[in-house]
Amino acid sequence: MNLRIKKYSRNLFDISIIDEVMEINDLKNISLDIGSGEGEFISKLAKENPKDFFIGIEIKYGRILKSLKRVDNFGLKNIKFIHGDISNLLGTVLISKNIKKIFINNPDPWPKDKHITKRIIKSDLLNKLYKLLKRKGQVIIKTDSQDYLNFIKKEINNSKFKVWKKNKDCKLPLSKFQENYNKINKKIYAIVINKN
Ligand SMILES: C[S@@+](CC[C@H](N)C(=O)[O-])C[C@H]1O[C@@H](n2cnc3c(N)ncnc32)[C@H](O)[C@@H]1O
Repeated sequence: MNLRIKKYSRNLFDISIIDEVMEINDLKNISLDIGSGEGEFISKLAKENPKDFFIGIEIKYGRILKSLKRVDNFGLKNIKFIHGDISNLLGTVLISKNIKKIFINNPDPWPKDKHITKRIIKSDLLNKLYKLLKRKGQVIIKTDSQDYLNFIKKEINNSKFKVWKKNKDCKLPLSKFQENYNKINKKIYAIVINKN
């Protein structure tokens, strides 16, 4: 583990340690935030819902470090982060079916045709998320890109979820990207998919 992160390790799962992977899979009532950025959204949710457990997953080290400093300042005990690529964690580190909600806020839209393969929301990833969810579990996706939204809807139709609905839950806190887009009145599209 990197030394700068070690200082804040109480809110970090070290997935190279088997005991920590087991701890993740023993938790109940988990919500995941995929691509959690600097942790604004997930830490607000953790503050508001002290009985649930929250896990932020982020590929960029610098953003994990900022997230860890944030929750350390708040003194939150019901939130931890995983530094890693979500594609490598599903079915390996994240195995149990204890997940209540999965949030994906403003995933990188990769607007250029040549980069479309880099988009993370594809039917394959959705099928892996489906496996992890409890019955009646939900994935809530928000994006500022109408093109990505249309792409995601097609991927949902080709996945085990099959159908999507507009997300009408207005009580969710805003992520950093959503706060920035709100300031310039940029539309955010929100959809929800349910495991029956
Ligand atoms: C546009 S930002 C949005 C951040 C935050 N969710 C928000 O709305 O403020 C997308 C985030 O997803 C992260 N990310 C991209 N690919 C990822 C992957 N494969 N696994 C985990 N995180 C990823 C990026 O590093 C980035 O922090």
